[in-house]
Amino acid sequence: MRPVPDQLIPTFVFDDRVELARVLADEVEQLVARPAGLVLGLATGSTPIDTYREFARRHRDSKLSFARVTTFNLDEFVGLHADHAQSFRRWTRENLFAHVDFDATRTHFPDVDARDLAAASRAYEDAIRAAGGIDLQILGIGRNGHIGFNEPGSARDSRTRAVELHPWTREDAAAAFGALELVPQRAVTMGVATILAARRLRVIALGVKKAGIVRETLRARQDSSLPSTWLRDHGDVRLYLDREAASAL
Ligand code: F6R
Repeated sequence: MRPVPDQLIPTFVFDDRVELARVLADEVEQLVARPAGLVLGLATGSTPIDTYREFARRHRDSKLSFARVTTFNLDEFVGLHADHAQSFRRWTRENLFAHVDFDATRTHFPDVDARDLAAASRAYEDAIRAAGGIDLQILGIGRNGHIGFNEPGSARDSRTRAVELHPWTREDAAAAFGALELVPQRAVTMGVATILAARRLRVIALGVKKAGIVRETLRARQDSSLPSTWLRDHGDVRLYLDREAASAL
């Protein structure tokens, strides 16, 4: 793990993605051990997968228990059944919950099935607040600077809500869905302000496809056209990169 000096977000580069996952899992393990327990914000997608594998490994080999951890997922597509192969509920179940001992009653997803998405989104905010707020939020970054599904144009004070997905986001998802037309147009996402309210933000970016947005996140003018630039305002944020994602710094 190498720190990159003088960045607007404390930034660390890893030669090995598994080492990155271990560093993040170490921190989560310490937080899990606190008497107060842990409220963990979860991202989906390719970025956090090694970290979730590391959680599973520690549960299996070291009996690390997540039974007292409360989770809130960042986002979910509107219009997909919970069991749809591309839904984030299924993804999280298959890639994380199936391998560790999370208590299902403590896991939360944005409610995309509600008739009134605005009311359901307010209820999600209330649930986060009732849980005491998010202690640590795991985040990826989209190529267009989205965090969660806060696409370009998302306000800094935005909260959980239904959003239209950006064309790049839908293109990036098209392969998994089998065709662009099959990718939902909308999602419900925690807002920028919801994310910034988490006590710790741990942002991961991997691969050369993220090199440009990593550079912009650290150097571009802060603006809602690049929501990831708002991460610089957080008092306890770290950016964890592999060498490829750091290659434009
Ligand atoms: C996923 C999410 C997104 C992803 C981002 C990067 O829950 O909120 O912001 O983190 O699109 O996706 P991957 O990791 O697939 O490159």
